[in-house]
Amino acid sequence: MLLNKKILLCVCGGIAVYKAVALVSKLTQAGATVKVIMTESARQFVNPLSFQVMSKNDVFYDTFDEKDSSVIAHIDLADWADLVLVAPATANVIGKLANGIADDMVTTTLLATTAPVWVAPAMNVHMYDHPAVLRNIDRLYADGIRFIEPSAGYLACGYVGKGRLEEPEKIVSIMSKFFEPQQKPLAGKKVIVSAGPTLERIDPVRYLSNFSSGKMGYAMAEAARDLGADVTLVHGPVSLADPHGMKVVAIESAQQMLEAIMKEYDEAAIVIKAAAVADYRPKYAAAQKVKKQDGDAVIELVRTPDILATLGQQKQHQLLVGFAAETNDVETYALGKLQRKNADYIIANDVSKSDRGFGADKNTVTLYGHDFQQSFPSMTKTTLAKQLLDVIVERSGVAK
Ligand code: PMT
Repeated sequence: MLLNKKILLCVCGGIAVYKAVALVSKLTQAGATVKVIMTESARQFVNPLSFQVMSKNDVFYDTFDEKDSSVIAHIDLADWADLVLVAPATANVIGKLANGIADDMVTTTLLATTAPVWVAPAMNVHMYDHPAVLRNIDRLYADGIRFIEPSAGYLACGYVGKGRLEEPEKIVSIMSKFFEPQQKPLAGKKVIVSAGPTLERIDPVRYLSNFSSGKMGYAMAEAARDLGADVTLVHGPVSLADPHGMKVVAIESAQQMLEAIMKEYDEAAIVIKAAAVADYRPKYAAAQKVKKQDGDAVIELVRTPDILATLGQQKQHQLLVGFAAETNDVETYALGKLQRKNADYIIANDVSKSDRGFGADKNTVTLYGHDFQQSFPSMTKTTLAKQLLDVIVERSGVAK
């Protein structure tokens, strides 16, 4: 798959630079043509000559050192590449790319290219876990950048944890897979995804809701789109930008979410209910702002429709995937919902911990089917959504 592919390797400054030399060797052995750009810091670790020898090409590191006067080097390299790989990618370069900063040869080229960009981070375990780095990684995911997550193990700084540059053999195999003809198992299938909270009005200025940010549901919708599905995303009030390449329906209440989903339910192959739907709403939503009075007040609540259970009752050919947000006895409650709501899969998250579930960038879940279960360790919701869908599509046979 890598034969004659033009790969531009951007090397940043970290101890893992030595692995990048081996990476160039393996890429060229696989038939790729490799050109290398190094940051200033990368040159502190390895002499450009090593990359020159391995790639049999000039190595670039100075934006103003134009080796060929007929072209502008960083634009020429950006246009030349079939794929740009940043390995090792430091927190610094990830941060610059996420924020559109172009102040050296690597970062100007990264902004100038329209080729697919893959980023393979390598850094200290705490740096990789830092909220700023996670924020930048999530932003880059949203921009369409792909990641090769670092592996866990002994780090050069003495820590043991996640942060090691993935092994060159593994990176080469991921690159090779990337150039395989695209698999679109959900092409021609309609997938409805619900995301975010619902908002149940008390009066024009007050409401009942919850802390769902919509991130998990949006990630599921994007993963389904990337598998070729025709996606409708029905979401409650969130502050996320509309994802591209899908129909987006904004609703407010549980009743409106039910109606929006029912409109397309007959044609749906899969419905994924990641929304945190309010179970109760005020019996009456006052038309005017309710004035305070002496003493306590009581709001009478009534049940909202259970959307997933309604879909379960009317299920024909659809595959139903629910989520379960639990703080205790996760498995018991998740399996109960699987049966009661006639779902095919329930994805349970333990939302008692602040690093997952509501609002967090990462999640840790267990996927329950009627005859199996699989746990997924902590990872970004974007990565998790892809992995969950791959397993669900594979196991359910929905793509056939
Ligand atoms: O949005 P984020 O900040 O990324 O957070 C993600 C999440 C924690 C909200 C998500 O991962 C999640 O767990 N969503 C489901 C939350 C929830 O409402 O769980 P539940 O156990 O109350 O409901 C079980 C299932 O029934 C869910 O699929 C829910 O959408 C559905 N339901 C619940 C009540 C209702 N009236 N109608 C429903 O359809």
